Amino acid sequence: NQPLPLSGKKCLITAGPTREAIDPVRFLTNHSTGKMGYALAEEAIKLGAEVTLISGPVNLAPPAKAHVVQVESAAEMYDAVWPFYDDTDIVIGTAAVADYKPKVYHTHKMKKQPGDNVIELERTKDILQELGMKKTHQLIIGFAAETNAVEEYARGKLEKKNADMIVANNVTTAGAGFGTDTNIVTIFKRDGSAINLPMLTKAETAKRILTEAASMLQKD
Ligand code: PMT
Repeated sequence: NQPLPLSGKKCLITAGPTREAIDPVRFLTNHSTGKMGYALAEEAIKLGAEVTLISGPVNLAPPAKAHVVQVESAAEMYDAVWPFYDDTDIVIGTAAVADYKPKVYHTHKMKKQPGDNVIELERTKDILQELGMKKTHQLIIGFAAETNAVEEYARGKLEKKNADMIVANNVTTAGAGFGTDTNIVTIFKRDGSAINLPMLTKAETAKRILTEAASMLQKD
């Protein structure tokens, strides 16, 4: 009986969108459904890992064996990852975290005014980048959701986030990105190499990413 590729490994996965509240009834968000992140959680468990899933608001049932922490905003997701970090072997940032949030939260519903309105935004913290900067033994895997110049931006994110792998998907390609049951990804690694995967289900894509991660951990 061979041990599973990720047995004894701890995996921290962020998934889904974040919601940045404007007032009690409105928020800023994006199209992430959590499918890619939940598929990674499911497959990591199948490969023997212990999984903590930090999830933004989605309509999916998490894998029964995952330890799940539900969050709403980028700030909550940021706070949720740190208690697990030291003890984590593989971090996977699948979440579509908002890069900006409203500068002011209105405690009462904003009323219509004559004419246009402007909502000022401020930057959120980059969770993956901060995890990457503080890494000791962790393997850091980020995603890159792009609409153009995929390779250039993905390689930029490898450096900027001190990641070991960036999984890039062009979210304007049919069968890839948000909401679909399939994805088309390229895995960029720090040694300069890249692995192009064909259109696969998100489960199969997840398995390929995790198998690659397992072999990288073995080389260390
Ligand atoms: O959820 P689905 O509907 O299945 O869709 C899947 C997906 C398109 C969301 C997924 O495949 C994907 O591409 N996820 C990353 C989305 C994203 O926000 O990418 P980015 O290029 O903006 O961010 C780069 C990396 O930094 C990501 O790993 C992201 O999780 C992380 N990040 C970004 C901003 C921030 N403030 N904190 C972060 O940790």
